[in-house]
Amino acid sequence: MFSTYVLAVFAAVASSVMAKDIDLKVCMNRHQNMRFEGHAYSFSLTNMGSDLDKDGTLHPRNATWLEARSFCLKNCMIPLSIQTEVEFSVIKSFMKKYKVPAVWTGGRICDWHGCAEKLPLTTYGWFWAGHNTVIPATDVVPQGWSESPWSRKGHFGVRQPDNAQYEISGVHELCLAIFDDAYEDGVKWHDVACYHEMPFVCEDSSKIIKAVKEKYGLDL
Ligand SMILES: *[C@@H]1O[C@H](CO)[C@@H](O)[C@H](O)[C@H]1NC(C)=O
Repeated sequence: MFSTYVLAVFAAVASSVMAKDIDLKVCMNRHQNMRFEGHAYSFSLTNMGSDLDKDGTLHPRNATWLEARSFCLKNCMIPLSIQTEVEFSVIKSFMKKYKVPAVWTGGRICDWHGCAEKLPLTTYGWFWAGHNTVIPATDVVPQGWSESPWSRKGHFGVRQPDNAQYEISGVHELCLAIFDDAYEDGVKWHDVACYHEMPFVCEDSSKIIKAVKEKYGLDL
């Protein structure tokens, strides 16, 4: 029920994106910075050929979670949806190599009416808004992982997600970011209020690539 609903909503979003928001020229020229298992990833849609400092530091585009998602879709990509521990380790290495302190993923809490079938949302309500898949409950180690990707601590020193900003300023932390050692905790997942601006990662979506191929006869 939960996953069916999410799928329906995002299938609808994906097809409306296909119809009006796609800019083929932008898609064809999108910056792809790394590959993993045959598909491309883009770091803030940055051209790493020219956006690197002499010391190898990257100056990425910053965006809110929603802007990041729109940027990805406009480029025929989806916001990062981490499926495996290996995929997460590829992203971690990238952040370390280019000294990137934080990135948005496409993770979000499904907080609209009737979306989640189990509470609390902070534990059971997460999904990938790119692949339209449910993120495993945050209080267990996901199947196939050696440890939880969520941080052991955040602003209040407790396990993530903790919806900390709600306590501080009444804004829910509905979006999933990766921070590199923000709390002496390594590269880990944190729940963050979606309006914050930071770099983001987009990835190719086989679905969008296939649709563009079918509709326009183009290989992205
Ligand atoms: C993004 O934000 C970081 C941290 O505030 C800043 O150092 C960087 O210059 C910003 N990037 C751009 C392109 O403005």
